[in-house]
Amino acid sequence: MTQATARAYPNIALVKYWGKANEDLILPAAGSMSMTLDDFATTTTVTLDETDSFSLNGAEQGEAGASRVIAFLDLVRNFARTAGLDTADQNARVVSVNEGPTAAGMASSASGFAALAVAASSAYGLELSIRDLSRLARRGSGSASRSLVDRFAVWHAGDDQSSYAEEIPAPDMAMIAVPVATGQKAVSSRKGMVATATTSPFYPAWVTSTEEILKEMIGACKDSDFTLVGEIAETHAMRMHAVIAASRPSIRYLSPTSLEVFDRIAQLRADGIETYGTADAGPNVFAITRPEHAEVVSERLRDLTKDGEAKVLRPGRGAHLVGDDAL
Ligand code: PMV
Repeated sequence: MTQATARAYPNIALVKYWGKANEDLILPAAGSMSMTLDDFATTTTVTLDETDSFSLNGAEQGEAGASRVIAFLDLVRNFARTAGLDTADQNARVVSVNEGPTAAGMASSASGFAALAVAASSAYGLELSIRDLSRLARRGSGSASRSLVDRFAVWHAGDDQSSYAEEIPAPDMAMIAVPVATGQKAVSSRKGMVATATTSPFYPAWVTSTEEILKEMIGACKDSDFTLVGEIAETHAMRMHAVIAASRPSIRYLSPTSLEVFDRIAQLRADGIETYGTADAGPNVFAITRPEHAEVVSERLRDLTKDGEAKVLRPGRGAHLVGDDAL
């Protein structure tokens, strides 16, 4: 019996990925940049087995729920076949546990596919570099490519070989999770991206401006310029929600409470507590601040959260294998 367990954390983009250049290979239309979190982990065990099966948070998944995971296992089996491994013809059982809310803009697909890439490749006997694991995770969910990387990542646009994530230096910072809703989102990011690319008239400008802003972000990170990093991150998040809202029919991920959080963040700035906001394809907001202000920011945003808790998050570790005792 060949078995491996991996742990991965979500990442939150400071320069967002929204739109693909290639649907099958999941190649992004532009590069992006993110912070890997140190909480809301996914832990996944892959065991070679008689049949393919997938359990998520203790619930056995049917055909629909398991299809993306099984398609990903097929990809890993193809890699194993190319490498001449006799595991290539075996099925596998996948057991995943998410510590954060699933499919509500908390990037659970990123931690999910990053953990699956590491656990499945190891269970099937493949020995892959971080770069190749990032390329593999990308095929499950684009943003998962960045969860292979410690702390801060840039995911390059390019072809199948050159589109991977790698670590970049960045100023130390904290993120405060402001969950305003934990339900499943109405439009998946996969569908939302296609709708935006095909119906939003602002999409071409979104792609070219993302390429430009990514260069500026990498420079700001290198200079350890927290203010510029924060300004770029908030602006770019708002541009993403704008290009999405301009789809036909319109798609809106932010809720009235999300906007209240952004207003509160602006008020914090006016009060001299430098804080910026970002949000993915869902209503939950992440506040970005300097580590020394993290507790105050959490305190000031707590009443807008669903459960009265605004967790302080710090840069975390990329996806990695864990021993049996870590489960
Ligand atoms: O990896 P996906 O297909 O779930 O797309 C994620 C897209 C955003 O979270 C909205 C932005 C990003 O860069 O993570």
